[in-house]
Amino acid sequence: MAIRNIRKYGDEILRKKAKNVKVFDDNLRILLEDMAETMKDANGVGLAAPQVGILKKVVVIDLGEGLIELVNPEIISEEGEVVEVEGCLSIPGVNGEVARPRKVKVRAMDRNGKEFDIEGEGMLARAFCHEIDHLNGILFIDKVIKFVNPDSEG
Ligand code: CO
Repeated sequence: MAIRNIRKYGDEILRKKAKNVKVFDDNLRILLEDMAETMKDANGVGLAAPQVGILKKVVVIDLGEGLIELVNPEIISEEGEVVEVEGCLSIPGVNGEVARPRKVKVRAMDRNGKEFDIEGEGMLARAFCHEIDHLNGILFIDKVIKFVNPDSEG
């Protein structure tokens, strides 16, 4: 495993659309493992492959309740709306309030190409939405209602 360089705001790759993963090989497994290590090293709770310079639909999330790996994820249903403060490893020092669904259902594949559905509420729903946005070249700052001082965050 290796820690990869996290691309920062201004890097054009963050604005490009990621492509579907079609081959489930060792390269994918290494990417997933490197992304998990990179996220942990940066004290993040989510990371999308474009953030490490790879335009593939691959996401890792860990809110402290175990690692979630998502390949080719898409949101298939959502309900409600919650406004909370968000940040991003690619935009250090910037935080802002973003409205996200309270609950979402995501369809994705695991590292072996097996399809599964996963539901998330609250912070997990927010992480799913934030990371899947990355796969479409969308950053949370595009959706911020109000920027906040990071020091005021709870
Ligand atoms: Co982000």
